[in-house]
Amino acid sequence: MKFDTRVYVAGHRGLAGSALVRGLAARGYSNIVTRTHAEVDLLDAAAVARLFAEEKPEVVLLAAAKVGGILANNTYPAEFVRDNLVIQSTVIHEAFRAGVTRLLFLGSSCIYPRDCPQPIREDYLLTGPLEPTNRPYAIAKIAGIEMCWSYNRQYGTRYLCVMPTNLYGLGDNYDLTTSHVLPALIRKFHEAKVRGDATVTLWGTGAPRREFLYSDDMASACLHLLELPDDRLSTLVNNRAPPLVNVGSGEDLTIRDLADLVREIVGTRATVTWDSSKPDGTPRKLLDVSHLNALGWRPSIALGDGIRRAYANYLSLAGG
Ligand SMILES: NC(=O)c1ccc[n+]([C@@H]2O[C@H](COP(=O)([O-])OP(=O)(O)OC[C@H]3O[C@@H](n4cnc5c(N)ncnc54)[C@H](OP(=O)(O)O)[C@@H]3O)[C@@H](O)[C@H]2O)c1
Repeated sequence: MKFDTRVYVAGHRGLAGSALVRGLAARGYSNIVTRTHAEVDLLDAAAVARLFAEEKPEVVLLAAAKVGGILANNTYPAEFVRDNLVIQSTVIHEAFRAGVTRLLFLGSSCIYPRDCPQPIREDYLLTGPLEPTNRPYAIAKIAGIEMCWSYNRQYGTRYLCVMPTNLYGLGDNYDLTTSHVLPALIRKFHEAKVRGDATVTLWGTGAPRREFLYSDDMASACLHLLELPDDRLSTLVNNRAPPLVNVGSGEDLTIRDLADLVREIVGTRATVTWDSSKPDGTPRKLLDVSHLNALGWRPSIALGDGIRRAYANYLSLAGG
């Protein structure tokens, strides 16, 4: 990629997309194309076609999606499958029609079978049943991977699918009805501190193990992959296997330990009550990142540092 390559970031206001824009700018890319949801609804194929015709992007980073935690996935399964299928197939197809040869499709670690061995290797895809709580979302994402792979096979494109682990960072979603676990913990402990509550109630048992990656680290991994020379990219994008790369920190911890860490950083003495009537989700989700590491990338922001940055950002967003 050259510094004046036209790069379209779809979903640039989201957690992942905004980190990609920051990462591109920090690396010196000056020709970044963006559209807000209000300007271009990615469910509208004609609007997406117009965008590609007007802007002629050369590289596409697809970080727009309908995203949410267990509650949102359980409540809106129809939107989670439909919106994601439509957004990704529209953007990928219009990118192909516009002659884009490099595209990065962001998926998620929930594409892997619920009970697959840990850490999760890329070749565990489609080897067992999915976690039911986010199956509609996961199946849409799996269709996106199949689409990228098929276009690569049939049309010789180089569309790469990255599967980030749980992300957190600047501009995260702190709405408790749709947020992921880490921003939800930040908000709950912060509000308990402000109100002086003695206890905080959290969903599940605290036993599941999860891996987390700061969003700017995820962006740095994605851009590292995008900037790989053609011969190295070709080892990822070939006809034999899905063009899939896990993006994670390679380390996990229990939700209970995560809650202790967030509580300490937020600075409250509130104790935790675990509401075990609520679902835990997958017991463990740790990505095998040996592939990414072998390509020369490692994370640089430790979990505690990342949570401190995210909490400072939450305070500025909340005006506190
Ligand atoms: N967050 C995580 O922990 C995580 C982990 C692994 C992978 N990922 C992947 O990263 C990608 C982005 O996730 P995220 O966490 O950054 O989500 P996010 O913060 O909710 O951002 C998604 C973005 O997509 C936009 N969008 C959604 N529907 C749209 C539509 N119909 N038309 C135009 N724009 C639309 C949203 O705009 P509006 O807000 O205006 O609708 C938002 O800017 C997803 O593919 C997700 O699977 C995320």
